[in-house]
Amino acid sequence: MPTIKGFSKLSKEAKIEWIISNYFNGDENAIDFLKSYWHDDISVQKLHDEFIENTITNFYLPFGIAPNFNIDGKNYCIPMAIEESSVVAAAAKGANFWLDRGGFKTTIIATEKIGHVHFIWNGSDHSKLFNFVNAIKPKFYSETNAITRNMQLRGGGILDIELIDKTRDEPGYFQLKATFDTCDSMGANFINSVLEEFSKILKNEIELTTLLNEDEKDLQIIMCILSNYTPNCIVRAEVSAPIDTLGEGEMSGEEFVEKFCRAVRIAEIEPYRATTHNKGIMNGIDSVVIATGNDFRAVEACAHSFAARNGKYGSLTHSETKDGIFRFWIEVPLSLGTVGGLTGLHPMVKFALKMLGNPNAQDLMKIASVVGLSQNFSALRSLVTSGIQKGHMKMHLLNILNQLEATESEKTEIVNYFKDKIVSHSAAVEIFCKIRGIEIPKVVAKS
Ligand code: MEV
Repeated sequence: MPTIKGFSKLSKEAKIEWIISNYFNGDENAIDFLKSYWHDDISVQKLHDEFIENTITNFYLPFGIAPNFNIDGKNYCIPMAIEESSVVAAAAKGANFWLDRGGFKTTIIATEKIGHVHFIWNGSDHSKLFNFVNAIKPKFYSETNAITRNMQLRGGGILDIELIDKTRDEPGYFQLKATFDTCDSMGANFINSVLEEFSKILKNEIELTTLLNEDEKDLQIIMCILSNYTPNCIVRAEVSAPIDTLGEGEMSGEEFVEKFCRAVRIAEIEPYRATTHNKGIMNGIDSVVIATGNDFRAVEACAHSFAARNGKYGSLTHSETKDGIFRFWIEVPLSLGTVGGLTGLHPMVKFALKMLGNPNAQDLMKIASVVGLSQNFSALRSLVTSGIQKGHMKMHLLNILNQLEATESEKTEIVNYFKDKIVSHSAAVEIFCKIRGIEIPKVVAKS
């Protein structure tokens, strides 16, 4: 297949033409297909085109709603953008379950962001470097004032600057570690701009200082970048209820809670299970993060680092029983923004934030953590009772039928058929073929 130099310089039409002629044998239908995903309103399409480089069309994700979340006494309809069939249903089920039991309670534990100037300094007397950095500390604040002024007016800015000696891990390696309050913005651009300014100050000041001799003035900046690991930007969400009110079908409340807590415990101690357990939590969190225009890769990376903070990967949620009460909670670092980035640009993000009552960043941390907890509660509730496939396959049935290109009336008939039966891929194909009056294929491609 051909390669190309200067692709980004081509017009959008020319990019499409190049792709279609080189990768789709010049098929005109493929061009129509791509264009069918363009927005009718040219200005909206232009906005999307300009979010990234080389946009040729849009990629749709379903935007669903999980209603009935009661968080700290306030009701929310929560927007979720996700492709997996059962996620919104599971979140909503958890919301309904806890709506009648006092809802979700949340606490913001901290909101600190972190960034580093990573540099190499090979002097032998480390205390001299510490003295130098301490002496110039006020300059890091004063000489970045042009960048930090607005953030300070909003109540944030640089919180602390610290020199960290990492030479035990890597010869000559030091960090200028800075902590920030970025208020309602996620703060990546702000932090990175400040850090790059810090590196210039370091380089300038080391030339001028009398605290170091000429041999000790060789300082090499490696890089300046925020850390997406924000263990001090953390929220807690919790639910609780009397154990004897938590019976499930044949199971008493005590039996259910015993099995549930055992499932949480397994995720706390067993990384294989913890990964799937946390994946379920992130199903909920990511879909809110995406719908509200935040960076789900940053949130994912941080959550999993946090889950391994004690040297072994484990569950993000925890449970306990005490004095007849079952308690289930999550503590998760979430660095989110409700201003800046896509939040004021993407029309669906603006809609999502409006639906949430235009939350500030801390409110959004609470909302996302609650959806993660709700998701995990519903998953564990199914896993320790009916099993996960019953609900999951019910939700997945429409995907199977769409892949078979079933008509609307066939879909209605088949969904009805499975009302009291367990859905499997082969059972769905079988009933579909029966209704259509066609032969059941011997091997069926799975969806
Ligand atoms: C599926 O996307 C998520 C689950 O596997 C989570 C879990 O096992 O806890 C159902």
